[in-house]
Amino acid sequence: MAEAVQIAVVGSGYVGLVAAVCFAEMGHSVICVDNDESKVAALQGGDTLIHENHLPELLERYRNTRVRFMTDLGEATRTCQAIFVAVGTPQSETGDADLSYVEAVASEIARSINGYKVIIEKSTVPVYTNEWIRRVIERNGVPRDAFDIVSNPEFLREGTAVEDFLHPDRIVVGADSERASELLSEIYLPLTQGEYYRRPNAIPGGCSPENLPILLQTSTKSAEIIKHASNAFLALKISFINAVSNLCEAADANVEQVARGMGLDSRIGPKFLRPGIGYGGSCFPKDIAAFRSVAEQMGVDFNLLSEVEKINSNQKKRFLSKVRSALWTLRGKRLAVLGLAFKGDTDDIRESPAIDLVEMFLAEGCTVVAYDPAAMGRAESKIPRSSQMQYASGVDEAAADADALLILTDWQEFASLDLVQLHSLMRYPIIVDGRNLYDPQHMIENGFTYLSIGRPSATPLREAARLAV
Ligand code: UDX
Repeated sequence: MAEAVQIAVVGSGYVGLVAAVCFAEMGHSVICVDNDESKVAALQGGDTLIHENHLPELLERYRNTRVRFMTDLGEATRTCQAIFVAVGTPQSETGDADLSYVEAVASEIARSINGYKVIIEKSTVPVYTNEWIRRVIERNGVPRDAFDIVSNPEFLREGTAVEDFLHPDRIVVGADSERASELLSEIYLPLTQGEYYRRPNAIPGGCSPENLPILLQTSTKSAEIIKHASNAFLALKISFINAVSNLCEAADANVEQVARGMGLDSRIGPKFLRPGIGYGGSCFPKDIAAFRSVAEQMGVDFNLLSEVEKINSNQKKRFLSKVRSALWTLRGKRLAVLGLAFKGDTDDIRESPAIDLVEMFLAEGCTVVAYDPAAMGRAESKIPRSSQMQYASGVDEAAADADALLILTDWQEFASLDLVQLHSLMRYPIIVDGRNLYDPQHMIENGFTYLSIGRPSATPLREAARLAV
């Protein structure tokens, strides 16, 4: 049986909160610290703050027992041996990661160190951040042998965060000291030795006693780079398939067939080859910019990353043109928008391409009636209701009398729409699908003009004949 470790997690955002409850689920005793008193009070009261599978049940199970929430980082530092730093690293104007929160946390930890501590970077940070944290702590008078810095990047995705945390593809531990690396191995023992997966009530996922996650030990700097390089590579894969989808459109080929043909090569793999309206979210856009900036500062030519960003932003403009090509003019058109979150299964709208597109359509003089199963509250605080911007309570309300319906987020619910009902509700049966959720032939059979990404557009025969006259 693995020993329980006293763990502090600083920051209660996506990464921090999920890490805190998952460490508790693994058997550890956790203090989750946030300097936002209202957030701490909400968490103590049982509010999960974010829309995430399994989070409510885990929070309910461990709240105020194995996971305590507080604002006092000093107390957490004194109580715990492992301190995971999961505070925000927002993008600054130059594209760099703004590390002021990390620095503030490091100084505060330094003021309360009362014995050997391991400080672990969990947020995505540029290479060399561990060195800076070390310097900050030493400058505050802490002797070098009283602490170690470790990089243990988190690879969780929103929507499947708990499952990703407990069933990781790999656990990366970047440490330059044996003692620190041993503590991290101990923390992850319930996963790496499979004790967790043998539990009858374990959260299900890809790992099992027969398929245990690997703990990869690296230097601290390598671990920092692994996180940035992984996200940049995934974004590159998406931009690559988006560029290929544009070529498919020009050549009248089908990108779904091309992606399948590519993905069957085990060296390429099928994942992250879904074309669409571009990647968004709190990680990819920020991390690619930060990685590009780090490379620049270190005198390394990594212009490939600028191309990845350029393709991503062009993808939204291409979608706008596609809608224009279906409607001829945009001013005064009523558009039903399905999806505002940056991807399905989350209420997060940070850097959402759907939100960018809604803003572009509003600027073109369209009326937008939007629906999203989870992100409407957040969207409304970014784009308030007006005569031009309306929020619907469901798909039917959004679709009523629409000149076209746009699918912008890959929610499961949008992949099984009642097409007969939709056809009867809309003013014109035109669907522009930014996520390729439907088979074009099926849409023709249901009487829709259907445009998607990287596939030949589909127009019902009667409409095609009329347009040809
Ligand atoms: C990502 C990484 O996957 C995760 O490892 C990291 O820790 C944080 O960033 P997340 O932002 O939650 O996770 O979302 P992800 O599922 O990776 O999708 C990111 C964006 O790419 C979304 O906008 C999604 O719609 C888009 N995407 C993803 C595509 O357009 N095509 C794909 O094939 C995959």
